Amino acid sequence: MPTRPFTLGRCRPLWGDESPSAARPLELPAHHLVTHGVVVGMTGSGKTGLVMVLVEEALRSGVPVLMVDVKGDLPNLLFTFPELSPAEFEPWIDPSAAARDGRATADVAGELAARWRAGLAASGLGPADVAALRARMAPRLLTPGTTAGEPIHVLSALETRSPLWDEDEEAAREALSASLSLLLRLVGRDPDPARSREHVLLAHLAERRLRGGQAAGLEELLADLAAPPIAAVGALEVDAFFAPKERQALARELNTLLASPTFATWRKGAPLDVAGWLERGAPGAPGADAGKTPAVIVSVAHLEDDERLLVLGLLFEQLLSWVRGLSGTSDLRALVVFDEVFGFLPPHPASPPTKRPLLALLKQARAFGVGVVLATQNPMDLDYKALSNAGAWFVGRLQTDADRERVVEGLSGSDGGAGGVDAAALSATLKALPPRTFFVRNVHMRPTSLLAETRFSLSWLRGPVTRREIGRLVRSISPAPAAPPGPKSPSAPPPHAPVGPGGTVVLDPRHAAAAAPHAASAAPHAASAAPQPARRSKAARADAGAGAAAPPQPPEGWRSLYAHAPAAAPEGFRYVPWVAASVVAHLRDTKLGVALNQRQILAAPLLSDGKPDLARVTRLDPALLSASPAPGARFAALPVPLTKRSGALAAARALREHVYRTTEAAVAVHKELGLTQGEGEPLEAFTGRCRAAAARRAGAEQQEVTGRYAPRIARLRERIAAAKARYEQAEAEVAALPGAVGAAILGLVAGRGTARRAETQRDKASARLERARQEWTEADAALRDLHAAQAAELAALEQLPLRAGEGIETKRLVPRKNDVEVDFIAVAWAATLAGPA
Ligand SMILES: Nc1ncnc2c1ncn2[C@@H]1O[C@H](COP(=O)(O)OP(=O)(O)O)[C@@H](O)[C@H]1O
Ligand SMILES: [Mg+2]
Repeated sequence: MPTRPFTLGRCRPLWGDESPSAARPLELPAHHLVTHGVVVGMTGSGKTGLVMVLVEEALRSGVPVLMVDVKGDLPNLLFTFPELSPAEFEPWIDPSAAARDGRATADVAGELAARWRAGLAASGLGPADVAALRARMAPRLLTPGTTAGEPIHVLSALETRSPLWDEDEEAAREALSASLSLLLRLVGRDPDPARSREHVLLAHLAERRLRGGQAAGLEELLADLAAPPIAAVGALEVDAFFAPKERQALARELNTLLASPTFATWRKGAPLDVAGWLERGAPGAPGADAGKTPAVIVSVAHLEDDERLLVLGLLFEQLLSWVRGLSGTSDLRALVVFDEVFGFLPPHPASPPTKRPLLALLKQARAFGVGVVLATQNPMDLDYKALSNAGAWFVGRLQTDADRERVVEGLSGSDGGAGGVDAAALSATLKALPPRTFFVRNVHMRPTSLLAETRFSLSWLRGPVTRREIGRLVRSISPAPAAPPGPKSPSAPPPHAPVGPGGTVVLDPRHAAAAAPHAASAAPHAASAAPQPARRSKAARADAGAGAAAPPQPPEGWRSLYAHAPAAAPEGFRYVPWVAASVVAHLRDTKLGVALNQRQILAAPLLSDGKPDLARVTRLDPALLSASPAPGARFAALPVPLTKRSGALAAARALREHVYRTTEAAVAVHKELGLTQGEGEPLEAFTGRCRAAAARRAGAEQQEVTGRYAPRIARLRERIAAAKARYEQAEAEVAALPGAVGAAILGLVAGRGTARRAETQRDKASARLERARQEWTEADAALRDLHAAQAAELAALEQLPLRAGEGIETKRLVPRKNDVEVDFIAVAWAATLAGPA
């Protein structure tokens, strides 16, 4: 029995003290979850994060978990990286997404690892806790209908006889019915047990076998269809209920299914055996031997909507029959979580196959220690009975009034009153909750309500995994030694060969240093490269004829730089002076929020007046420059004006002017999205970024649209239902009254007065009938209009990302005079073999 409470985050009182010191750990005793939990909140409020934290806490406490995954993000539990190192993250980063953002996966991985470490540290957790969780759990990733993960033999309830037929016939029958529904859906027939004749017939045939101690495999059912071993279905003879020809057609379809290879994936793999999955020590339970805690993820994210309903219906029927067979307890024996329950537990009158078993689970599972946590972004869609059964509520931010009203109403039901909380104030609180923050209501706690912020999850919440990744994940958890090793992080790309402008390979300065040890040792701190007077002057005296043997002193504040040269200067090797400057142009547009810094090293030959020859300005790759000269080289003299301070300033100013006049940049911007092309970001990458942003925005707006329409649609539905009810009542009344002929006869036998009364009654009823019909038609038309308007809005939003490129404009940026700065200026000694220029 777990004694350690679940530590879910930090909490503070609902109203009043907001200071951090009022916060304390939010600890939930495990057995509180026996009465189930509901998590609601808009997208992004942190529901999945909270569900994951609950799962982690259960596993840390040794409570087995069954996770129902319809969106694909619960397998994130397997992103528990014991070292929280970039290398563990990297294989799971989508390289194309990283590239769209103009980034290397390694960078993204590094950043994520750091973020996750920091987030966990803020929650008082670290790699050791992740490692402990990972070591503790025995994960299993089941994927019915596909072999991407571990397939499930979904029809096992049908094809292998369950002992339930001897113990709990009702449960066995429900499981059988769910199996048959799935089977019928797979052949494209009506799967509804209450409506479908084929369902009724097959159920009769299968049950006869199963109760008689046999299996009811498909092959056997086919034989039974051909020659039914029963005489009647209900009050009808078999042939009258389902004609032989029709039976033949059904048999043919089932036979085709049986022969289809895709169908085979529904019939292989683990049996749908919840006990085997969850009970520790059960022979089939994962990690049973090592005393680990089962963490079973059933993922149906890859299935069609109606397949999901049927498969999960089947799963919940099995779950229910497992629960019913357990002994009673008040401890939490297992936790079932269902994120995104939207559509699976809808309010009356909808009744998909998942609803009955889910409701039954919520009602009965508490006695057997199985807690169910449901999360949804759409409280309007939850059956209110399910809501009022939940003991723990976690309510995140809710956007629409209707959603908030619904939740506040549901909360009132959870403890028989608003729990001392003012409904309007609560609604206002819910509207403004930040992400990862939840209003918590726990009927077992005093006070029952508080505000909580969830702790950081130990698992990396990356978001939905693809079918492919499921395969990789399964291999990564597979204990089999034969399993291929987990995906390795790609090794770092080889360092780029230094490439200069125009694609020429630039002489690597390291090579130069190695090749010219003299130069390197002569000027180890190359940056300032002050000539060494003693040595140089001696050399200068020796070689006075062909130019100075040492570089002339640069003007004050200037550096000296040298073109790379061979190890030893060949005969006639001379340096001639150029000017080089590192110039930064700050380009900005405050309106666009753009600030670019363009730094370049420009060089130009020095004319005899000491000014740069602006017609010959070139951009220099800094790698082409070295801080020390080639030994043995000669130097031309500096132009005389440069020796004066004013001359040097004029040269610098001329280069600066040049940059001011010639620099311009084009940046792509998307005004509506507020995005600007980043420095060095290719246009395609920027366009991709715009598309992604537009898609995000469209998604949010679509949610907003759906949220906005939902209450009106609900109201219209109610109006339609009321009108229909009135119509049916009026119709019944009209039918019960004598018609015109009847009234005439009535007049003959009962007198004119009675007949007239009947006539007016009939007229009134007819008028009511007509009014109700009109109201019904109008409301129906209004609903269709509303749906159409919603669809049009949604479709328009759908277009947004596709058209993101159209919103991109190019902005030309030029610097202002003051925005051009000279970083440093230098005499750049250019190498020449000829005489001085
Ligand atoms: N407990 C948590 N720990 C770490 N990150 C979280 C947590 N909860 C939410 N987040 C972050 O917030 C994002 C949105 O939360 P999520 O749980 O997916 O919201 P919802 O399921 O309500 O749409 C997640 O992608 C994740 O980055
Ligand atoms: Mg979610």
